[in-house]
Amino acid sequence: MNSKGQPNATAIRRRLLRWYDAHRRALPWRAPRDGGAPDPYGVWVAEVMLVQTQVDTAIPYYRRFLERFPDVHALAAAELDDVLKVWEGLGYYARARNLHKAAALIVEEYGGELPRDEKSLRVLPGIGPYTAAAILSIVFDHPLLAIDGNVRRVLSRLYDLASPTESSLRRRGTELASQRAGDLNQAMMDLGSSICTSRAPRCDACPLKAICEARAHGTVNERPGRRPKRKRPHYDIAVGVVWRGDEILIAKRPPEGLLGGLWEFPGGKPQRGESFEAAVVREVREELGIEVEPGPKITAVDHAYSHFAITLHAFHCRYRTGTPKPLGCQEFAWVRPEGLDRYAFPAANRRVLERLTTEELNEE
Ligand code: ADE
Repeated sequence: MNSKGQPNATAIRRRLLRWYDAHRRALPWRAPRDGGAPDPYGVWVAEVMLVQTQVDTAIPYYRRFLERFPDVHALAAAELDDVLKVWEGLGYYARARNLHKAAALIVEEYGGELPRDEKSLRVLPGIGPYTAAAILSIVFDHPLLAIDGNVRRVLSRLYDLASPTESSLRRRGTELASQRAGDLNQAMMDLGSSICTSRAPRCDACPLKAICEARAHGTVNERPGRRPKRKRPHYDIAVGVVWRGDEILIAKRPPEGLLGGLWEFPGGKPQRGESFEAAVVREVREELGIEVEPGPKITAVDHAYSHFAITLHAFHCRYRTGTPKPLGCQEFAWVRPEGLDRYAFPAANRRVLERLTTEELNEE
């Protein structure tokens, strides 16, 4: 403890690193225990995945990603469609688009080497303060702490802070990461995801329990103070599975913005007073310039994004007239159901597709 009754950085670091040396998880992007250096490209890809995704979910995606794009040159040379296909199901697709863009910049401007300073890293698409600190500490041992929600919680409890400012956390983090920065960061991450969890923390198993201020004051479950939860708006979206013979019409979303570059069934939000079926007919006309006739409903799928939730109402539709043109999409394709697997779809569309496949199997 220091003079203000706060645990000191040396004591925290010593306990945390001893615990990490004994309990660290063997993860595919981590350096081997016997000391080899971690692969900068692998750490970058992993940290980008792990910004919105839990470790156990990310592992199989990480392995597939590195198998398919083993280094920054392979990623820079890849088609965005292929990158999105490997990313399909992980969500937050801007991460994949930004990785792809940044790979091209790293090859063009840095000869394929990830830059080693914060300023240059932060200019690359998709690299914010968290990812830059994670890469620089883990790969290059810079004394920085990558502060995400988990680490914020660990620090808030350790120092018993109700509403810490970013700068106060950063200051403490820099002090903590002054030695073995990469291991210290990953120890914090492991502690936050396995022991110092948001609900039901396992304080008995914590290497910091003897010096944790919130534990001493009985405030662990109140730290950090909750940020007020915003209510997520909900939208209904009507989409058409447009059949022409045995082919289905799919459209590729514009390159930027939500789900940019992914494929989907055409459709959109109904206007006030408009039925789902009428909305499908209008949206398909606006997006692709063709006329369709709506048929039976296939399914309704609920899906939550970070800031809103949707219910996707999907209808079989019959193609009637017109030549499709990409009026409100990047491109379109007529595809037989068995060929749809080659395209990257957002999760809710993928569930409509699964429903289609099961329907067809049941009909046979
Ligand atoms: N979460 C974010 N980055 C991580 C890492 N390198 N190890 C474990 N969990 C993480």
